[in-house]
Amino acid sequence: MRTPARRTAAALAALLLCLAAAPATHAASPHRHRAATLDDLARQHGRYFGSAVDNPELADTAYSDLLGSEFGQTTPGNGMKWDATEPRRGVFDFTAGDEIVNYAHAKGLKVRGHTLLWHSQLPNWLTSGTWTADELRAILKSHITQVVKHNRGKVFAWDVANEIMNEDGTYRQSIFYKTLGPGYVADALRWARAADPNVKLYLNDYNVEGLGAKSDAYYALIKQLKAEGVPVDGFGMQAHLALQHGFPNDVRGNIRRFADLGVDVAVTELDIRMILPADETELAQQADWYGKMTSACLAVRRCVGITLWGYSDGHSWIPSTFPGEGAALPWDENLGHKPAYDAIRNALTAARS
Ligand code: G3I
Repeated sequence: MRTPARRTAAALAALLLCLAAAPATHAASPHRHRAATLDDLARQHGRYFGSAVDNPELADTAYSDLLGSEFGQTTPGNGMKWDATEPRRGVFDFTAGDEIVNYAHAKGLKVRGHTLLWHSQLPNWLTSGTWTADELRAILKSHITQVVKHNRGKVFAWDVANEIMNEDGTYRQSIFYKTLGPGYVADALRWARAADPNVKLYLNDYNVEGLGAKSDAYYALIKQLKAEGVPVDGFGMQAHLALQHGFPNDVRGNIRRFADLGVDVAVTELDIRMILPADETELAQQADWYGKMTSACLAVRRCVGITLWGYSDGHSWIPSTFPGEGAALPWDENLGHKPAYDAIRNALTAARS
């Protein structure tokens, strides 16, 4: 016999399927439900579908309105990084991060904290100083403690350590590694846990979506951290893909092996760039890849959600960093759907929950 809870769940699933089937661009009618959003569809599988946002983009109301209605999660693109949060030693500024958290919570989006420890976007006072190991350890502990405490109860996850490995699986020679040695990663995780016992603590990197030397290094590190009782809850795969570099090797198998270690996995910064100008064939290939990434996440229970690194080609980090490349997102500059949008939607609709 069906319990009331099951009946409610079944009714909700039926409603969501009806919503999913509704065409996305139908003329408004008082009798018609709005079409299911990507996040509605992801929720049917117990996942979220999100997009990062940078503070200046909130002022673009067409963009921020769609962010607030289509997505269930966001990540500040820059607002919680070290140069923003501790511009002078011991002087904290949470304005930019708070602006995004307040916006997100007003719209019902949950927030991923990004990031506590990264070799990039560090303040000058930190990079230009010379520090003993004890000094740098104290600086790192203070930074993590203050930023995590400020955001306690406001973010569901933190990218604690970002991009700490090289492509060959050796540690990146960052100021932290060079001064503190590899133990800084476990310390950072422990300090973050002490500051917020409930937030999910992630390691996060790019070029780790498929099997390879770099993802192997994270696999070994997370296995070791787990064995030592260090609090690590998740592995973030940024997924900054490029058509010209090929699709990563066995994404699903890679996600599964991390899940089997006992950690959550999240696709944290998905975009798929190409050499411009984009033609129909490339946009179709891009759509196929977006669908494949979505399906790979849905195939593994512990893959908790997908975040785009911005959702439209009008707000993307790609063209300034890779001149001549772009068209990386599922929405175009005019907030129109590209084939990639339909491919994500199809993957979310086709997968069995
Ligand atoms: O803060 C200055 C501002 O004072 C100045 O007026 C402005 C003029 O251009 O530049 C501002 O700094 C820029 C900053 O974003 C904030 O807008 C930097 O030049 C720019 O390089 C920086 O880019 C960010 C990049 O990280 C830095 O590495 C991107 O917006 C951000 O999307 C990108 O995000 C990273 C993730 O954190 C980690 N994974 C890779 C991803 C893409 O690079």
